[in-house]
Amino acid sequence: MLAIDKGADAFLYRQVIDLINRNIDDGTLRPGDRLPSLRRMSLSAGVSVPTVRQAYIELERLRRIEARPQSGYYVRHVGGNPMVRPAPSSAGAPGACECRPLMARVYDGINHPNLVPLGIANPCMAKPAAKTLHRTMKRVMARAEERSLGYATTLGEPTLRRQIAFHYLDNAGGRIEPEHICITNGGQEALLLSLLAVAKAGDVIAVETPTYHGLLELIDSLGMLAIEVETCPEEGVVLAELERTLEKHPVKACMFSTTLSNPLGVTMPDEDRRRLVALLEKHGTVLIEDDVYGDLRFDGVRPTPAQFLSNKAKIITCGSFSKTAAPGYRIGWIATDRYMDEITRLKRAFSCSSGLLQQLTLAEFLASGDYARHMKLLRPVLQQNAERMSAMVAEHFPAETRTSKPVGGSVLWLELPGHVNSVKLFDDAIDAGISITPGPIFSPSKRYKHFVRLSYGHPWDERTENAMRWLGRRAHELAA
Ligand SMILES: Cc1ncc(COP(=O)(O)O)c(C=O)c1O
Repeated sequence: MLAIDKGADAFLYRQVIDLINRNIDDGTLRPGDRLPSLRRMSLSAGVSVPTVRQAYIELERLRRIEARPQSGYYVRHVGGNPMVRPAPSSAGAPGACECRPLMARVYDGINHPNLVPLGIANPCMAKPAAKTLHRTMKRVMARAEERSLGYATTLGEPTLRRQIAFHYLDNAGGRIEPEHICITNGGQEALLLSLLAVAKAGDVIAVETPTYHGLLELIDSLGMLAIEVETCPEEGVVLAELERTLEKHPVKACMFSTTLSNPLGVTMPDEDRRRLVALLEKHGTVLIEDDVYGDLRFDGVRPTPAQFLSNKAKIITCGSFSKTAAPGYRIGWIATDRYMDEITRLKRAFSCSSGLLQQLTLAEFLASGDYARHMKLLRPVLQQNAERMSAMVAEHFPAETRTSKPVGGSVLWLELPGHVNSVKLFDDAIDAGISITPGPIFSPSKRYKHFVRLSYGHPWDERTENAMRWLGRRAHELAA
C-alpha cells in the first residue's frame, strides 16, 4: 500500500513518481497502458495538476512513460533488441519465387477458424467498425434499392472514387483526379492489374526484402522474376543497394511499400522517398507502390505516396480498405494517370467491376466522417497491442531475439536465434492452436529461416497472452 503523504519530507511530485514506478514495476501498469489524465491523477492522489505534470515530465525523462499528442501519457516499452541494418551486399540475382508449397500451408493455417490468429495481418480487426458499417450498408440499401444489386461501372462507383481522391488531398496533400482511380477487388487485384499493365512473363521485378508474401506469389504466378533489395528496419529500401541493382539488372518495375511496409512496419523518410522517385525516373523504371497501410501509422501522420512527388515518374499507387475497414468487402483501388487506359482494359477483362453495394457503403463511410473517427480509435489500439506484444517477446522469448519497432500497421517481425527453424515453430504452433507466419515466405530466395512475423491485429486478450507465452517457451526449446 502506498499513498501520497502530505506530511512527509519527500516532494509531492516525487511521491507521485514513486507511485507510478511501483505500479509499473509490479505489472499493474503495463507497456502501452495509458496513465490517468493529469486531472484525474490530481483528484485521486489529492495533489495539484501542476504537481502531477511535473511528475509525468520527470517520468518521461526517465523514459518510463511517453507523451502522445492529444492522447495522454503511456507506459513505454523497454527492453528487447532492435533489428540491425542490413550489411552492404552485391546486388543479388533475379529468380523465381521458391516458396509455393510453404505458402499453401501457411494459408491453410491462416484460414483455420479456431486458431489464435497471430498469422494474419488484419489491423482493423483490433477494433472492428462492424456496427457502423452494418448501419451504413442498411442505409445505402434502403436508399439505393435495386441499384445496389447491379453492376458497378468498370472504374467503379464515382462517389467512392471522389472520396478516395479527397482523402488523399485531405490527408496526404496530394491531388489525383477521380477519373484516374480504378476500384479493384482488394489491394491484391490492384497489384495484379498494375503488374500486368507494365510487365510481362520473364521480366524482373524488384521487391523489398523482407516483403509481403502475396506480392511474391503474384510475381511467381505471372512468370516474372523477383530480385530482392536490402531494406533497413528504420528507413526502408536502402537506396544505394537499389541503385546497384538498377545498374546491374534490367529491372522493369519496383514493388515497394514506402509509406508503411509489411512485415517491417517501417516508413521511408520523405527525403529518401524523393530520392527514390528521382532514381527511378533516371532509370525509367516503374514504381508500383503498395500503399495499403498508409493510413495506419500510430501517430496518425499520413506519409505522402510517391505518386504525388513527380509528374514525370512512372508510378502506380495501390490502396485498399482491407486493412482499415473491412477485408471481406474486397475493395481496393489503383491510382495512376499514365496507365489508366491499360488498367481500365485489364479490369474489364479480368473482373468487369467490383461489388457495388460495398463501394456505396464505403463511400458513405468516408463521406460521413465515420472512417476518420474509426481510424482515430483504431490507431491507439494497434499501438498498445504492438507495445504489449513487444514487451511479451522481451519477457518470454530467448534473450538474443531481435524485434522490429513498427511505426504502424499490425505486425511484428522477429529474428530468433540463428539455429531456430521458424517452419518447425510454425508447424508446432499450428498443432498448439496458434497461427504464425514463418520467415522464408517473405523472400523469393527463402531467406529468413529463423524469422517469424506475428500479428497483433486482433483484440488483445488472455488467449493472445497465453499464445505468446507458449511461443516463447517453444522458441527457447528450439534454441536450446
Ligand atoms: C502489403 C500488402 N499489400 C496488399 C495486401 C492485399 O490486400 P487486400 O486484402 O486488400 O487484397 C496485403 C494483405 O495482406 C498486404 O499486407
